[in-house]
Amino acid sequence: MRRRIGILTGGGDCPGLNAAIRAVVKHATTTHGFEVVGICDAFKGLYECETMPLPIQAVRGLLDRGGTILGSSNRANPFAYPVMGADGVETVSDVSERCVENYRDLGLEGLIVIGGDGTQGIAHRMMAMGVEVVGIPKTIDNDLEATEYTIGYQTAVNIAVDAIDRLHSTAESHDRIIICEVMGRYAGWIAMNAGLSSGAEAILIPEIDYDVDKVITTLRRRHKTQSSFSIIVVAEGAKPRGGDFATKKEADATQQARLGGAGDHLARLIQEQTPFDVRTTVLGHVQRGGTPSAFDRLLATRFGVAAVDLLAAGKYGRVAAYQRGQVVDVAMEQAVSKLKRVQPDGPLVTTARALGVELGF
Ligand code: F6P
Repeated sequence: MRRRIGILTGGGDCPGLNAAIRAVVKHATTTHGFEVVGICDAFKGLYECETMPLPIQAVRGLLDRGGTILGSSNRANPFAYPVMGADGVETVSDVSERCVENYRDLGLEGLIVIGGDGTQGIAHRMMAMGVEVVGIPKTIDNDLEATEYTIGYQTAVNIAVDAIDRLHSTAESHDRIIICEVMGRYAGWIAMNAGLSSGAEAILIPEIDYDVDKVITTLRRRHKTQSSFSIIVVAEGAKPRGGDFATKKEADATQQARLGGAGDHLARLIQEQTPFDVRTTVLGHVQRGGTPSAFDRLLATRFGVAAVDLLAAGKYGRVAAYQRGQVVDVAMEQAVSKLKRVQPDGPLVTTARALGVELGF
């Protein structure tokens, strides 16, 4: 019988996941002779034994396809799994033992987990229970310390830059301030990179609580002396000094809080104190959809190949990472131990300051 390995995608999707799945299947099948089993909808598929065979034919045409053919979920943590009772009331249960049993029953001898810090954290706990895991980092937020880039991030920045370029012309035509809210829960990488690449006047990020008076002073000065319009890029996780995150739904036992509204909140603050005409555009999940950039296709492919080689070599508990142009591997606990955030005194902030970009502090 051929040796079998599994693969799943967890957490929020992003462009490049399918490219990684394709690389895993091609390399695992042709180089190592493994049979690859797709686990559907993250760890939910492992608990409910929902799988799909992944022969080479199944991954044809996947390189440029957005999303994930395996499906994903961010409500599938085996250690806090939502279970619906007969009374229609949802409770949270630890179903991890069952997942490990199913893993063995499926005849798997390795599991490639493509995910962000939450998913890799779960994989790390599953490893302690005997599951042979290897990780591939993905998240458009790019907030994993172990790797310079995660799958999906570059594409998200490109999408945001394209959108902000378009906002520029309409802001100019109408003498408006347009606030563009981008994703970035705890880290402002998308906001900083997209904002700098598209010439935004102000960039507000989760790492730095902004002083709204300072932002307004800059806008007044600019509109008096330089220009009749402005673009502000704000990360969804940015908040005013002394204020709170703008949320659409509070966290519960199975899911983190849903953020949203940071742009509208800032628009209100500016509108209350100035005569400017302000509009907000929320890019939202547009940043996570569609075709991956060439960089993300290649990164995902390199990560996929590396992950298979790690499994084949029995190097479990490792995560593929990109460091200085090379794909290396790091310990899973290191990959999830710390978030990578924009440094308030780091090179991006220094560049922004050199250009006179308002950062709100
Ligand atoms: O973690 C990636 C991310 O896109 C965050 O930037 C965002 O806060 C979150 O996922 C949105 O998740 P959901 O798709 O569950 O609303």
